[in-house]
Amino acid sequence: MSCNLGKLELFLSAIQMKKKIVIGTVALFLFLQIFQIDKINLPIDSSKDFIEITNPPDQIRDILKTACYDCHSHETKYPWYSNIAPVSWWVKDHINDAREELNFSEWGTYDLKKSNHKLDEMAEEVEEEGMPLTSYTLAHSEARLTGGQRKALVSWAKSQMKPEEK
Ligand code: HEC
Repeated sequence: MSCNLGKLELFLSAIQMKKKIVIGTVALFLFLQIFQIDKINLPIDSSKDFIEITNPPDQIRDILKTACYDCHSHETKYPWYSNIAPVSWWVKDHINDAREELNFSEWGTYDLKKSNHKLDEMAEEVEEEGMPLTSYTLAHSEARLTGGQRKALVSWAKSQMKPEEK
């Protein structure tokens, strides 16, 4: 009898423990929500915008807008999950890194050498299916590129490269 009681006590204290862990996790999660990300997009200067400058065919424009501009420009549309920490921090990290590497809203500030290099990188990333990031296309089905879309974007990007004077 006493042995069974001992087991019951152990069982109950295990439940207490689990409750504490659950409450602790929920409290931590709620606490993290204090730290919201900055979602302010800088004002757009269309004279510096990649699409404005290069004036691509509609198909290319659509691909760039739906599959690249959320990360690589100041025209980010933040998804619902960007309201939830810690996912929001991870989203913001991607956007910051992406803008640093290639910012379509600041294309007009790139010199010839840099523009050519970025166009070359674009073709390479898209050809090798490195871009758009898989973590993005999982949540944005409209940004999943078909083989045909990839080919079109790659050859268009290459066609935009200009000869550099030596
Ligand atoms: C979810 C955000 C996201 C999307 C959408 C996205 N990228 Fe990126 N991109 C990144 C991040 C983050 C980096 C920098 C780190 C890395 O290379 O993985 C990057 C890097 C790049 C680079 C490398 C630049 C360099 O000089 O090395 C190119 C080029 C690029 N992206 C092109 C594209 C193109 C083209 C698209 C659309 C077809 C696209 N990206 C869509 C996040 C994104």
